[in-house]
Amino acid sequence: MQTEYFARDRLPEAGRKIATGALIAFPTETVYGLGANALSNESVQKIFQAKGRPSDNPLIVHIAKQDELKALAASVSPVAQRLIDAFWPGPLTLVFPKTEQVPDLVTAGLSSVAVRMPAHPWALELLEYAGVPVAAPSANRSGSPSATTWQAVREDLDGRVDGIVCGPPTEIGLESTVVDTTGPRPRILRPGKITYEELVQVCPEIEPYLPKVSHTQDVDDNENEMESNKSGRPALTEDKVLLNSPGLRHRHYQPKAKVRLVSEPLAKADSQSSFIGLQLPNPSAGYLEIQIVGNAEEYGRDLFDFFRRSDRLGVLHIDCQIVPEVGVGVALMDRLKRASE
Ligand code: TXA
Ligand code: MG
Repeated sequence: MQTEYFARDRLPEAGRKIATGALIAFPTETVYGLGANALSNESVQKIFQAKGRPSDNPLIVHIAKQDELKALAASVSPVAQRLIDAFWPGPLTLVFPKTEQVPDLVTAGLSSVAVRMPAHPWALELLEYAGVPVAAPSANRSGSPSATTWQAVREDLDGRVDGIVCGPPTEIGLESTVVDTTGPRPRILRPGKITYEELVQVCPEIEPYLPKVSHTQDVDDNENEMESNKSGRPALTEDKVLLNSPGLRHRHYQPKAKVRLVSEPLAKADSQSSFIGLQLPNPSAGYLEIQIVGNAEEYGRDLFDFFRRSDRLGVLHIDCQIVPEVGVGVALMDRLKRASE
């Protein structure tokens, strides 16, 4: 497949292509997404093929306007509406009970659907021209770090998708916060840029993120579970699905290099700084490359790009300094822990 590259002035064309069944990667404020018409089973199928994504991992549906939610969500609770009013457009994904219109492939057979309105002018423009809700996972091959630049998307998906929108590097660099609003109390399923501290201001009853379910299973384990599902045996209990964002069970966010979490700064600097360092096989030789970031926000923005750069250099070890698990540090530590597994 020949992949077409789109500059900003061709966003209308890229959007219309999504409407007619194409698979197009585009920038959002969090990471690049790989978009397809969410209401077309055939189009959504292409996402799973291009990414090599297990089909038990549901997708987030992206919309540009709130009235598009009616076709997707069977109901919007008052709490969910408060979260929408406070955080949309923005890096918050909300899980609702789904309508019949949403293909089962989008939700991996769940009775709920995840929806987000991104806060990125390019994404919003693309969605408006598409005129349909757009299912879009992160635009990377399954298992590798999310793409934060169009060049990273090209590295993973050139020749596998119809188009890539060549936008700016993403500002946040970590995926959206996912909140389930289908239960009695809303619950954080995946930590992200919108923090527990921010959410609790709007929604005092929200349950914080609890990484209760083991996420050490790899994709193969999950495929086995799907097999036993097909044979009629209950494979995933409802509890297991609901306790965590299903995608978080999979191998995720990992560079090829081995990632080690360290508590000490990697080089001399003021105590405010965090570091990501590429370590040579012989530790006494020091670091091949070191990236100094001023705070957890910058750390999150640069992490996946740093992982990809390290893979291009072929390094074997990466040391990442840990950060306190408050604010966006919760999301950052979540990704760091998964990367180091
Ligand atoms: O920032 C983001 O969210 C990016 C950009 C492109 O919007 N997208 C993204 O998609 O990170 P993806 O596919 O890599 O992650 C989607 C997450 C997974 O953890 C998945 O399990 C969860 O959302 N999810 C999707 N539908 C769900 C549902 N119905 N119930 C619970 N979790 C769901
Ligand atoms: Mg992803």
